[in-house]
Amino acid sequence: MGYQIAIDGPAGAGKSTIAKLVAKKKGFVYVDTGAMYRGLAIHFLKKGIQPDETEKICKACEDAEITIKYQDGRQHIYLNGEDVTKKLREEEVGNMASLTSGIPAVREKLLDLQRDLAEKENVVMDGRDIGTNVLPHANVKIFLTASVDTRAKRRYNELVENGKKCNYEQIAADIEERDRRDMTREVSPLCKAEDALLIDSSDMTIEEVVEAVVGLI
Ligand code: C5P
Repeated sequence: MGYQIAIDGPAGAGKSTIAKLVAKKKGFVYVDTGAMYRGLAIHFLKKGIQPDETEKICKACEDAEITIKYQDGRQHIYLNGEDVTKKLREEEVGNMASLTSGIPAVREKLLDLQRDLAEKENVVMDGRDIGTNVLPHANVKIFLTASVDTRAKRRYNELVENGKKCNYEQIAADIEERDRRDMTREVSPLCKAEDALLIDSSDMTIEEVVEAVVGLI
């Protein structure tokens, strides 16, 4: 079994930024589990399934194969042999992932894949239920959060930098809605593991958060 660092938290808390930097510093593999949910979401979208069509989603899980490959040090997601990495961050895909991640068949589909990766490698894995469910015996557990306002501002700035038109109020409302869904679902809801360290990054720099995590290893 590899060394396991679990980083959970709500949308936009900076999990992936921190996890990537910690992984680089320690020479560990970064595993982005949200990308796997997004990969499956692309499968549902391709089939024209609506997020509330639970039965169709369960059936569609049977013919979806998600695989992970590391190319140029980055995680690529393959859906039935096709590299879908570039599509993962699209708004429509994120929405579909958020709306379908509460379905047990969807979570079961990805659980073994996530555990297998952590079995073979030293990992920094980020998501919503890593410390509570996927890797309950992780060596280090972090629950990374920040205020809704901070998270919405970060997302807003990121979109503006990429030349996208966006509305701050809308972004903040979306973030709150996604948190609500992740925290209130029946299976593996987003919550802090009892033995996780809570880090609120609202008033911290990226470097400070990375140092706090690395200090625990
Ligand atoms: O983190 P990211 O925004 O890429 O995740 C996409 C969606 O996947 C989230 O909105 C969340 O509902 C779901 N997810 C999850 N469990 C994880 C990782 C992501 O339910 N471990």
